[in-house]
Amino acid sequence: MDDEGIDRLIGMLSLERKVRLLTGATTWRTAGEPGIGLREMVTSDGPAGVRGEAWDERRTSLLLPSASALGAMWDEELVERLGRLLATEAARKGVDVVLAPTLNLHRSPLGGRHFECFSEDPELTGRTGAALIRGIQALGVAATAKHYVGNDSETDRLTVDVRASERTLREVYLAPFEAAVEAGVWLVMAGYNAVSGTTMTASPLLAEPLKGEWGFDGVAVSDWAAVRSTEETGRAALDLAMPGPDSRWGPSLVRVVKDGLVPEEAVDEKVRRLLRLAGRVGALGSRDPRRVPASGASRDDRALLRRAVSAGCVLLRNDAVLPLDRAGLSTVAVVGVHAASPRVQGGGSAGVFCSGAVSPLAGIRARLRGRARVVYEPGPAPGAPPAPLGPDRCTDPVSGAPGVRLRVLDAAGRELYAEHRLSGRQLEPDLPAGAHTVEISAVLRPRRAGEWTFGVGGFGRMTLTVDDRTLLDGEFPADTDDPAVVHVTPPVHTARTVLTAARPVRVVARRELVPGRGRATVVAAAPPEPDPVTALKDAVRAARDADIAIVVVGTTEHGETEGHDRAGLSLGGHQDELVRAVAAANPRTVVVVNSGGPVELPWHREAGAVLLTWFPGQEAGAGLADVLFGLAEPGGRLPTTWAASLADAPVTATRPVDGRLDYTEGLHIGHRAWLRAGREPAYWFGHGLGYTTWEYEAVEVPGRVTAGEPFTVRVTVRNTGSRAGREVVQVYLSRPDSAVERPERWFAGYATVRVEAGRTASAEVVVGPRALRHWSEADRGWATEPGPYRITVGRSAGDTRWEGTVSIT
Ligand code: BGC
Repeated sequence: MDDEGIDRLIGMLSLERKVRLLTGATTWRTAGEPGIGLREMVTSDGPAGVRGEAWDERRTSLLLPSASALGAMWDEELVERLGRLLATEAARKGVDVVLAPTLNLHRSPLGGRHFECFSEDPELTGRTGAALIRGIQALGVAATAKHYVGNDSETDRLTVDVRASERTLREVYLAPFEAAVEAGVWLVMAGYNAVSGTTMTASPLLAEPLKGEWGFDGVAVSDWAAVRSTEETGRAALDLAMPGPDSRWGPSLVRVVKDGLVPEEAVDEKVRRLLRLAGRVGALGSRDPRRVPASGASRDDRALLRRAVSAGCVLLRNDAVLPLDRAGLSTVAVVGVHAASPRVQGGGSAGVFCSGAVSPLAGIRARLRGRARVVYEPGPAPGAPPAPLGPDRCTDPVSGAPGVRLRVLDAAGRELYAEHRLSGRQLEPDLPAGAHTVEISAVLRPRRAGEWTFGVGGFGRMTLTVDDRTLLDGEFPADTDDPAVVHVTPPVHTARTVLTAARPVRVVARRELVPGRGRATVVAAAPPEPDPVTALKDAVRAARDADIAIVVVGTTEHGETEGHDRAGLSLGGHQDELVRAVAAANPRTVVVVNSGGPVELPWHREAGAVLLTWFPGQEAGAGLADVLFGLAEPGGRLPTTWAASLADAPVTATRPVDGRLDYTEGLHIGHRAWLRAGREPAYWFGHGLGYTTWEYEAVEVPGRVTAGEPFTVRVTVRNTGSRAGREVVQVYLSRPDSAVERPERWFAGYATVRVEAGRTASAEVVVGPRALRHWSEADRGWATEPGPYRITVGRSAGDTRWEGTVSIT
């Protein structure tokens, strides 16, 4: 429907009916208006998968690798295919709007949602995000570029006031959103934070540059519960307040319009955009609402996710250990808790329930079945809080089926509702009238005797009993308003008790329901931890007796989650010690790092090979085995510079001072900051090894280029190794004698080539005019300095293969 048609529909609505459309009908739905043929639209989080409306472990979703892995792919075609996969998942779940991609930057390695963002670099982030958006929207499902803008860390995210110069915003933090708008994104989500003193849901940045200069014609939606005023946000270029039905808009917005404080045209414009979106996703008029087949997960989908794992894996270092040759192996030691229980996704609102992930151990075993012996040793516990109960460990006390019993009780303790569930973590369960308490109970048969840790998670009054022992009974007040923490990842409170092996116990957790205390109840348990000294010894013995040792270490979703920044970058528990001991016992040790963002690798030079998998999604182990055994190359390159230790990292601050977080480093984040500080990181942005070697033979650049025109850098590379491979050729720019402040060197573009062994190919890196322009604060506009620019061609921000000059006229 064109805008004229839309305006006719708007003309049929009263002010009250119009304003009604501007707040969600539920947590995930927009309001419908049957009178004009508008149905409700369903939103759902991404980016790792599409959960759908229900937070229900029985309705599983395909789980992609984390965004940091997508950023590591440097492969827009593949990212676009993953976007299409998200769209088919959306269709399967009746979702119109996917709340992804996240386009904030890896400014500090401590950022809690680092795993959910692509890169430290605005260009790479913009290109990766645009690819995902194209993929999602190609099938008629809307994508959402979030969180506009400056939501690059989590500490006090609801209130933090980010201060960055106009130039910094334009060139660094706004740039990926500009790329998203160019890619035609249908929604942009305004973050919780403020920039330059104004909260983003009321920010002038929604009007300019987003809607004006860039021409964004879609919907500016609030982050969930980020609308905290009526008039200010109503006047601003924000279009949709989510969730609902409670909101600071609704009748209050009608009132301020009637009082003349917000013009009715502003309301019309919001409705116009909402209807335009509805037209795009097929929610307006009688047209078939969905253009994509609502398929279930197919073999092709799993194959794509498996390929995505190897495509995102970054091989940091390889002392001729990888790829492994099955023929030469008789015993392989697999070490580490993460090998059997990998972290496949980060924590927070983006989490989905996946239908069983392939662990590294399972992937390796499958590959070696009938060929070599696989010996597994968990090593010392990595120090994570207890995991929610699940069907692998306990049964429903009523039916005896694997899983738990969920009950809702009234104030007198009478059962109003009960059902069998699979998970001890229940979010947003359906609540009948009179609901007073949520109860989760299970029968646990302990495999190990000793002191178990039990936990109950949520806010409010909670009790936890194990048989007749009351382990916890108290009031646990919410110390935050952050919706993701309150509803999704509340803290888990723990207590210990001694259990006898194989003697079942009944575990009961109860939480009283009070408005504002969130919708999550969790019951968790962890067996007694093995003695770390013995566990370490067992791991070392296994490594020493094996041809190869594969150690999997990593973080947890508690460490990397929405709503909190990380306290440090070191691997938890005794993991560094474990890696060192195993690497000392067997020089052919491969260390696999399973984290969403950077961790310190103090032992990296002691290991035979170091491979990053990020949070790899459901096909984790299958894709990892492909890489380890050479069925696929590790395709990834670092999207973000990794520090040897946090203390070296030039930009780390995420803690606001007096409510303000000053981006004092300006343009200089990521590799730019390292170059400027003259410091050497452990691994540079762009770094990553494949399984072959490359020679950069020739580079051609035009001598002169007209400002505003793109130009091409042609790089001839030869595959000098013995197997086919893919090379990511990177181009950086610098301008030593610039009249304006510049990064030391900045990333300008990349191209990839696949080349057979011994052959050459030409990589054509197109450098767009965007890479040469700078924001002039004096003129409040873009400018391009004429004159010479240095071009650096390399394999990473720290590995230069060629330098030359281009002159801009
Ligand atoms: C997050 C968003 C998310 C929304 C809905 C917020 O807390 O910041 O990324 O889309 O919740 O779950």
